[in-house]
Amino acid sequence: MSNSLASRAARPVPRYTSYPTAPHFHAGVTSADYAGWLGALPAGTDLSLYVHIPFCDRLCWFCGCHTKQVLRYDPIAAYLPAVQLEMEEVARRLDGRGGATALHLGGGSPSMLRPDDLIALAQRARQLFRPRPDFEFSIEIDPNDMTEDRYDAFAAAGVSRISIGVQDFDPKVQQAINRLQSFEQTRAVVEGMRQRGVASVNLDVLYGLPHQTVGSVEATIEQALALAPDRLALFGYAHVPWMKTHQRMIDETLLPDAAERLRQSTAAAARIVAAGYVAIGLDHFARPTDRLAIAAAAGQLRRNFQGYTTDAAPALIGLGASSIGSLPQGYVQNVTATGEYIRAIKARGLATARGIALSSEDRMRGWVIERLMCDLNISIAELRHRFGAAAEAVLIEMAYAAQGDADGIVEFDGRRFAITEAGRPYVRSVAAAFDTYLGTGAGRHSVAV
Ligand SMILES: C[S@@+](CC[C@H](N)C(=O)[O-])C[C@H]1O[C@@H](n2cnc3c(N)ncnc32)[C@H](O)[C@@H]1O
Ligand code: SF4
Repeated sequence: MSNSLASRAARPVPRYTSYPTAPHFHAGVTSADYAGWLGALPAGTDLSLYVHIPFCDRLCWFCGCHTKQVLRYDPIAAYLPAVQLEMEEVARRLDGRGGATALHLGGGSPSMLRPDDLIALAQRARQLFRPRPDFEFSIEIDPNDMTEDRYDAFAAAGVSRISIGVQDFDPKVQQAINRLQSFEQTRAVVEGMRQRGVASVNLDVLYGLPHQTVGSVEATIEQALALAPDRLALFGYAHVPWMKTHQRMIDETLLPDAAERLRQSTAAAARIVAAGYVAIGLDHFARPTDRLAIAAAAGQLRRNFQGYTTDAAPALIGLGASSIGSLPQGYVQNVTATGEYIRAIKARGLATARGIALSSEDRMRGWVIERLMCDLNISIAELRHRFGAAAEAVLIEMAYAAQGDADGIVEFDGRRFAITEAGRPYVRSVAAAFDTYLGTGAGRHSVAV
């Protein structure tokens, strides 16, 4: 690896699931703004619903999600009515406008929900937000939670997609991250849900964990491929102990360096592609017949807080503690602490703690960054067509990025700005060149590769 590549790989940059990114949200955007934004959505708007379940019955030391460990169900039982109240308040503000294209339950571990609670939540969402004919219902599953009645409840609730956390199958790695989960356990979930009609299965695998080597990551990939997932997400472990204090349980001396992380991700990606999957954006893979691969080939892939998606809804409604919503006017984020969230919802129906209203400059840079993260290239004609004279500043930055690139990561010929296949692992750091917020404010990020 050249010196410039090594420093690019080690440089902390955002994951760009939004632009501006969440550290730039501020308390100047309130529930009143959110209510106004909802009230201004046009009648035919497609709505994508995200419900955050910030609870787990175990705490994996690598975890970077907004969640907390609970040993009893009571906190969840107290939380769910608030989520339903929030749904009702959002529906009241929409006043019959819009229809839902998707419901996604993420966390945390939504697989912890009791069967009746899961069915009731999904039913209420369907009653309030009028599902479109191609409505999708997806849920994140920790295999550790799964019981026979949950399999049946997921099917009864109409779950059409599941995402299962695998991380790594090697017991030594699992021990180092406090995430014990056998291959058999994972296989039982894949098979159990497929038998009940779930059409699409995603597996999450991590590289950059303690004790992982190129060989061990490849072995995990082999096992994951044996389950024939429709999609595979290959994430680099984000070590952010200043934000997630339980990550201090991970022995930093066992973490691979930037060059080793790159070797692991490159070897894993090669193995997945050799098995017939299409590489999507930075870290996803899909069968060529999967909707994600079809959308990517058509330049219609999107990126939001759940990562890469086919979901093109212009309004993402975030429900639950810490959830982020994305509306044409800007982003809103709910308060993170669950107690505060419940109190806010009971008091005023919404729980916005921060957000950001988008300027026209934000929209243009957000579009550039999303297209780079999704397609790895930008058509200059389309950039000019969409943003007119304002695009010229970005074109100068593209020329500058291409001039300074000694490693063959980007190409720029005046008609197209593209990230090369060799540059794919550095997508985040190329996108960062167009982020005018980077380095301002409080954000600290994980390394680029
Ligand atoms: C909300 S979690 C998973 C859902 C479920 N609770 C589970 O653990 O299986 C979603 C995914 O985020 C990824 N993830 C969590 N913490 C991460 C970190 N620090 N760095 C990179 N990926 C992480 C994991 O791959 C995980 O499966
Ligand atoms: S990885 Fe999943 S199960 Fe583990 S703590 Fe995070 S959200 Fe919970």
